[in-house]
Amino acid sequence: MYDQVTKLRRLVKEKEEEVKLEKMRVITVSSGKGGVGKTSLVVNLALALAEREYRVIILDGDLGLANVDVAFGVIPDYNIKHLISGEKEIEEILYPVARGIKIFPGASGIVELANLEKEQLKNVLVNMGRLEKMTDILLIDTGAGIGQTVLSFISAADDVFVVLTPAPTAMTDAYGLIKAISSLPTKVNIYVVINMVDNELEAQQTYARLEQAVTKFLGVPIHLIGWIYKDPLVSRSVMNQKPVGFTNPHSIAYECVQWIAGNIMENYLRSPKVNKGIKGFIYTLLRLQKER
Ligand SMILES: Nc1ncnc2c1ncn2[C@@H]1O[C@H](COP(=O)(O)OP(=O)(O)OP(=O)(O)O)[C@@H](O)[C@H]1O
Ligand SMILES: [Mg+2]
Repeated sequence: MYDQVTKLRRLVKEKEEEVKLEKMRVITVSSGKGGVGKTSLVVNLALALAEREYRVIILDGDLGLANVDVAFGVIPDYNIKHLISGEKEIEEILYPVARGIKIFPGASGIVELANLEKEQLKNVLVNMGRLEKMTDILLIDTGAGIGQTVLSFISAADDVFVVLTPAPTAMTDAYGLIKAISSLPTKVNIYVVINMVDNELEAQQTYARLEQAVTKFLGVPIHLIGWIYKDPLVSRSVMNQKPVGFTNPHSIAYECVQWIAGNIMENYLRSPKVNKGIKGFIYTLLRLQKER
């Protein structure tokens, strides 16, 4: 374990050079199976990206119980419904949590966007357009599975992070999700995070099995963006409603997340700029909701 920690620290250091983003980047975090650690990843990734001085907004797209506000132990006053009704402006519904990170309580309201009157929709779009100036990265936490709302969030994003654990069912469900993503009409980069591993070998073997099946049967490219060790401090922090990056910044789990944050930025430096920006994000969301 000690060697892995030093190795990770070194990797994090090597990638310290910061990347300047020209446009807001949208990352949707999803999984085939529930309870694999999406929300934990999202909140800690937000902290790790903020540490690197990126501005982050978390869109809570999960209708479940264990969502982003619970992870931060906060209760936002307003949500996207107040934006839709015209009662509040986007600046008023964004809820600040820490290090400049803000939560955008979106959830079920997003589904309603497709049915709005023109004037209402225009107001929402103008407000959401202001997001682009406020943030570098929009992180979206979704529920598990391949429901229409989840797939809309994925299509509207630049990148999707598929989270899985080494458990066999998590693997089959991740494959099912990637299959659904591969038949979406828009392009999205697929990155894989293996969570709750005991060691590096287990992470590599889990990824290799997934990649083999995806390459053979689906033919879409996927990339391993990192893995996170099983760490009891994560479950403890969830119970205390504080992200582990806060309570235990030197825990092995948070160091893995910092490493993943570094990998993301390095990727953006190298990969061609295909990001859709806020306009692309909203229009894809609307189009897909309409097609339901
Ligand atoms: N690296 C880890 N080590 C140990 N436990 C973890 C780790 N990551 C997540 N967990 C635990 O797994 C449980 C599920 O995590 P989390 O709520 O983040 O999953 P989720 O994928 O968002 O779930 P859901 O599908 O219900 O939204 C939590 O109790 C959390 O503490
Ligand atoms: Mg969750």
